[in-house]
Amino acid sequence: MTDKNRIIFFDTTLRDGEQSPGASMNMEEKVLIAEALDKMGVDVIEAGFPVASKGDFEAVEAIAKQVKNATVCGLARAKKADIEAAGEALKKAKKKRIHTFISTSPLHMKYKLQMEPDKVVEAIKESVSFARKFTDDVEWSCEDGSRTEDDFMYRVVETAIAAGAKTINIPDTVGYAVPEEYGALIARVMNKVPNIDKAIISVHCHNDLGLAVANSLAAVKAGARQIECTINGIGERAGNAAIEELVMAMRTRPDYFPFTNGIDTTHITRVSRLVSSITGFAVQKNKAIVGANAFAHESGIHQDGMLKHAQTYEIMTPESVGLSKSSLVLGKHSGRHAFKDRLRDLGIDLGDNALEDAFNRFKDLADKKKEVYDEDILALVDTRFGKEATRYGFHSLQVVCGTGGTQAAYVEMTVDGHEHLAKAEGTGPVDAIFKAIRKLVPHEAKLKLYQVHAVTQGTDAQAEVTVRLEEGGDGKLINGYGADTDTLVASAKAYIDALNSRARAQLRKHPQRGAA
Ligand code: KIV
Ligand code: ZN
Repeated sequence: MTDKNRIIFFDTTLRDGEQSPGASMNMEEKVLIAEALDKMGVDVIEAGFPVASKGDFEAVEAIAKQVKNATVCGLARAKKADIEAAGEALKKAKKKRIHTFISTSPLHMKYKLQMEPDKVVEAIKESVSFARKFTDDVEWSCEDGSRTEDDFMYRVVETAIAAGAKTINIPDTVGYAVPEEYGALIARVMNKVPNIDKAIISVHCHNDLGLAVANSLAAVKAGARQIECTINGIGERAGNAAIEELVMAMRTRPDYFPFTNGIDTTHITRVSRLVSSITGFAVQKNKAIVGANAFAHESGIHQDGMLKHAQTYEIMTPESVGLSKSSLVLGKHSGRHAFKDRLRDLGIDLGDNALEDAFNRFKDLADKKKEVYDEDILALVDTRFGKEATRYGFHSLQVVCGTGGTQAAYVEMTVDGHEHLAKAEGTGPVDAIFKAIRKLVPHEAKLKLYQVHAVTQGTDAQAEVTVRLEEGGDGKLINGYGADTDTLVASAKAYIDALNSRARAQLRKHPQRGAA
């Protein structure tokens, strides 16, 4: 195998993925995901659409500063202001790419752009050559590529390459393509565009018909060498091709897909989980590769086969996607050594202090919960939990709830180092808890999301709670997370965590004033 067979993985979780309705992420979370993608080995991280908003610009800028290995990419329409914003946001990136696009299908040109085809060709020339002023690495996309007429497709691709694009992306924007046809389109572009040897062909498939992964793989067989995809397949409408499915299809069937890539598949489970809990998008249980049931064998016949020889029913191992090979659970008698070993099996490498902190949290958890599973350990070391508290700390909680009578909460928490107690009544215990916290930390932010996720099965499972607040007219979102075996305590912790994030953001904005 030569480098010609290396597939470039272009992850767009932070851009197309964020376009999933309700999947907004704040800057800190985007940086966290970008770091995880970088460690996983993706080649290109599409970090956002810098001209879209101040928040998008700042997130791309922060990711550009932080990412060590991957190329960081910013999206831009065929407009100078977009391209300038992308160039500016990417300034500090070690490796940067500008991704500019314009629609090329008859339908889009007529109704969306209201531009004649010749004008679109002009815009391609101008936008690509303008983007080249900021970086040599320019990607150009023909939006609605799969519904573009062949001859026009050859013309626009040739134009973009002549203007300096190094990557040509042919998206199936509306998820309309089917694998054989899409592969044939890629093959025609490879054969008909005279300067195609100067560029890499990329594909970007949406999942409206559930064919995004199949279409991407067909395109790779036909000669495409970059795939655009997202973690858990999130993205606009039905989403994009799921990176974990693409990577594992290639790894499991090298006979059919003789390609290489730079992805360390053992990171898949962790990154999937991180994206799911940050976006609040749960992964369906039977989802390929990362669903809770993906490696569970329920029927007696299957379990019997597995015990005799794992390959009878297992085409890939759980360890290959970062699930621990041991089915042993840890408990309160497990020592530091066993805990460290399990972390290593899960691909987690912590420094001495972080390890000590995580071990103490493990001991606290094991006191409450008989069996501590891999999922619990992943939650324990999740960097979103246990973040430095800026101003507020959870202390204790008592609730009165149940049928009939008052629902009330007594919350004890620290505000700037001082202990305070508040009582509030509500329509239910969570409502009462949030009202009590609001009494101690008065603010105008509105609750946009309250979500509970059980980390494992059973009534003693840890609950992970996500709280999303919105403040101000600009739709700024503030997320908070809390985990505890008591769902109500996790809820209080998540709300307080969101208020700490809010205080940190205020402090960043007005360092001299302090947080309000
Ligand atoms: O789906 C699409 O066409 C896109 C482009 C911007 C590449 O997301
Ligand atoms: Zn898209």
